Amino acid sequence: MSDHLTVVDHPLVQHKLTLMRDKATSTADFRRLLHEITQLLAYEITRELPLTETTIETPMETVQSPILAGKKLALVSILRAGNGMLDGVLDLVPSARVGFVGLYRDEETLQPVQYYFKVPKELGDRMVIAVDPMLATGNSSVAAIDLLKEAGATNIRFLCLLAAPEGVARMKEAHPDVPIVTASLDRELNEKGYIMPGLGDAGDRMFGTK
Ligand code: URA
Repeated sequence: MSDHLTVVDHPLVQHKLTLMRDKATSTADFRRLLHEITQLLAYEITRELPLTETTIETPMETVQSPILAGKKLALVSILRAGNGMLDGVLDLVPSARVGFVGLYRDEETLQPVQYYFKVPKELGDRMVIAVDPMLATGNSSVAAIDLLKEAGATNIRFLCLLAAPEGVARMKEAHPDVPIVTASLDRELNEKGYIMPGLGDAGDRMFGTK
C-alpha cells in the first residue's frame, strides 16, 4: 500500500457512515453498522496480503491456485472502541490472531499510559492491523503503534472509521511506514479533542454507556 492515507469512498461505506453519524441512530444499529462498514474497510486494507500458490484438484483437473502466504495476520484492538471493529475483520479473515492494547490518558501529563498489552507471538512475521474507530489527536494511536513496534512488528496498518487531519499528520510524522485506511477524513478536532463533524464518542455509542 503506497499511500499513507486511503479514504474508502465506496457508496455502501458512505451511506452506512451517514447513518452512524446521525445522533438518532440507536446503539444496536450503530454497532451493526460499524460491523458492516468494518467488513468493507477490511476488504480494502487486506488488498496486499501476500499470496503463494498451492496445488489442488478441482473436479475437472489439477491446478495451481493462489492461497494466502506466510503467518496468519495479527489483528490488534486498541481498547475499548477497537473491539467494535474486531468481528468485522474476523468475518473476512477468520484465522487471524487477535491482540489487545489498553491505554489511558494521564490527566496531568496528558500522555497515554499502558494498562494492558497482550499480542500474538512472532509479530515480526505477520501483517499487523491495528483497529480503533476514531483517529483523533493521534496520541493513543501513535503510542499503540510504538508498543507494537517494540514487540517486533514491522508490517503494520491502521484501520479506523473516521480520521481527523491532526491525527493523520501526527501518525505520518511518527509512523510514516504505517498506512491508514478510513471511511472519512473529517474537518477538524474541536477544543475537547472530538472529531468534527464526527459521530460523538464511538465507545459510548457502540456500548450504550453515555
Ligand atoms: N474519540 C471518540 O470516540 N470520538 C471523537 O470524536 C474523538 C475521539
